[in-house]
Amino acid sequence: MTSKEIRKKYIEFFVQKGHAQIPSAPLVPEHDPTVLFTTAGMHPLVPFLMGEPHPAGKRLVNFQKCVRTQDIDEVGDATHDTFFEMLGNWSLGDYFKKEAIQWSWEFLTSPHWLGIHPSRIYVTVFAGDDDAPRDQEAADVWESVGVPHHRIQFKGKSQNWWGPAGETGPCGPDTEMFVYAGEGETPEGIDPTEDTRFVEVWNDVFMQYEKRNDGSFVPLAQQNVDTGMGLERAAMILQGKTSIFETDLFAPLVARIQQEMSVTASPETLRSLRIVVDHTRTAIFMMADEVQPSNTDRGYILRRLIRRAIQHARALGVDARVLPELIDDVVNIYGETYPEIPRRKKAIYTILLEESVKFQKTLEKGLKEFELIAARNIDEVISGKEAFLLFSTYGFPLEMTKELAAKQHRSVDERAFWKEFEAHQQLSRKGAEQKFHGGLADHSVQSIMLHTATHLLHQALKDVLGEKVNQKGSNITKDRLRFDFNWDAKLTPEQITRVEQIVNEQITRDLPVHWEEMTVPEAKQRGAIGLFDERYGERVKIYIMGDYSKEVCGGPHVPHTGLLKDFTITKEEAVGAGLRRIKAIVGGLSDAPSLTSFVPAGPLKK
Ligand code: ALA
Repeated sequence: MTSKEIRKKYIEFFVQKGHAQIPSAPLVPEHDPTVLFTTAGMHPLVPFLMGEPHPAGKRLVNFQKCVRTQDIDEVGDATHDTFFEMLGNWSLGDYFKKEAIQWSWEFLTSPHWLGIHPSRIYVTVFAGDDDAPRDQEAADVWESVGVPHHRIQFKGKSQNWWGPAGETGPCGPDTEMFVYAGEGETPEGIDPTEDTRFVEVWNDVFMQYEKRNDGSFVPLAQQNVDTGMGLERAAMILQGKTSIFETDLFAPLVARIQQEMSVTASPETLRSLRIVVDHTRTAIFMMADEVQPSNTDRGYILRRLIRRAIQHARALGVDARVLPELIDDVVNIYGETYPEIPRRKKAIYTILLEESVKFQKTLEKGLKEFELIAARNIDEVISGKEAFLLFSTYGFPLEMTKELAAKQHRSVDERAFWKEFEAHQQLSRKGAEQKFHGGLADHSVQSIMLHTATHLLHQALKDVLGEKVNQKGSNITKDRLRFDFNWDAKLTPEQITRVEQIVNEQITRDLPVHWEEMTVPEAKQRGAIGLFDERYGERVKIYIMGDYSKEVCGGPHVPHTGLLKDFTITKEEAVGAGLRRIKAIVGGLSDAPSLTSFVPAGPLKK
């Protein structure tokens, strides 16, 4: 069955069950500045999962373009990719577990639809914990459709729970379907989540809770169903392949690169080959949605993908100028489904070519640098610092430096390299937190003052409007702060005045400002504001402003709030569905202390 047929059948099946087809949203979220890319089918539908009526009704079906780079290290195995399509059916307060599971089963196993033999399927359901009960209901439905008792396995939150990244939002238990893709009969007594011969193809999420800021789970006004079937994985199963890279969604790209390869096949080259095609394909989809390579945010993720693809192309002996040619295959495979790709084909080709040529040159310079380093090291060991320089300045992964060194019978001080790497990561992690959190345009004292005012404003909005209010974006210049947050209505003049009053009270109280580093669980337990997800490292920095505000942040801040005065909201407006923007200023910016005499808030001394 071709991937086009799978998409078509999926839509047809659910349209027959009363669902309306809705289009794929772009990869760049339209209304949510907190995330860089659409990472799941549910993402663009959050307002409707929370209760807003959807114009197309209560039963929806779609296929959605998604990008997830969290699993980037796993790309190269049989089932992981950074771009994927998710087939989804949605109940917005309509049907629930029984129908969702029955339909999943019918679609997977009926010879009229996917026709996967029932004997190849295992499922998992939520085991229950302190937050939510064991999902016996889902297990019972599975048993009623014919899944043997011992193939219905109960798992905890890490496996069978789904919610958006971040602190709050709709979430709930899920049930996952695994198909055996190995040789011979499907084995019994297996944990399908631990056995690589099983492929997780579909996930039905029962969104019945909202996770609140205080960590509690409250029932949602409506019970929803959010499902996601990975198209690439379904194609792998239905086309009888042992990896997604052999399906019709990837095969032409793989073949094109293979033609250019000048190395012999090995597990290592197979991995590189998969990385080259995966990353280039994802880059093409990003550029079709108008992302441009750059050094920040989305553009940076795009650039890294392209560079990583080039590094691996080089390992295969493939000239980076071949990568832009993959656009032809991507247009052939996806052009009909996603017309934005053929529409932007020329631009994508040009950008990809420019990036590839540019980086290939950097690589060449790096190689020259390597020769200099090698010449200096008569003792045959490349130091960690030198290996790190090659990594940070020329983008050489350690493997590449090692490979080059080995050719000259040299070794690399790997431990020292990782030490450098970690030190650097900590720095950049702090940088990332800072950017994510604050969006400071510069580190002038004026910006730092407005940054502190932003924290006070965030807490004051929670005081006045409720805990549900969260930062959705922030941008600070020398002259003003800009703060985006989730809220449905225009703020009343009374609410605005109250927020201003509260912030000014905290300024008058001249609260001391300090930071403290702690683990994520500790930060949560202490009630710090912040989106805790994989964007943060294990330890986070919390800025504490007296007894009033605690927030995850990279800083910098003023050492005490009394340095500010006269906080004033200058504008309050809507910037999207359920999203408001405040612009505000503080007094005293023109006579702010000079940067040379200014001491920012320091660590808390205990
Ligand atoms: N939102 C669910 C997932 O991404 C379906 O797995």
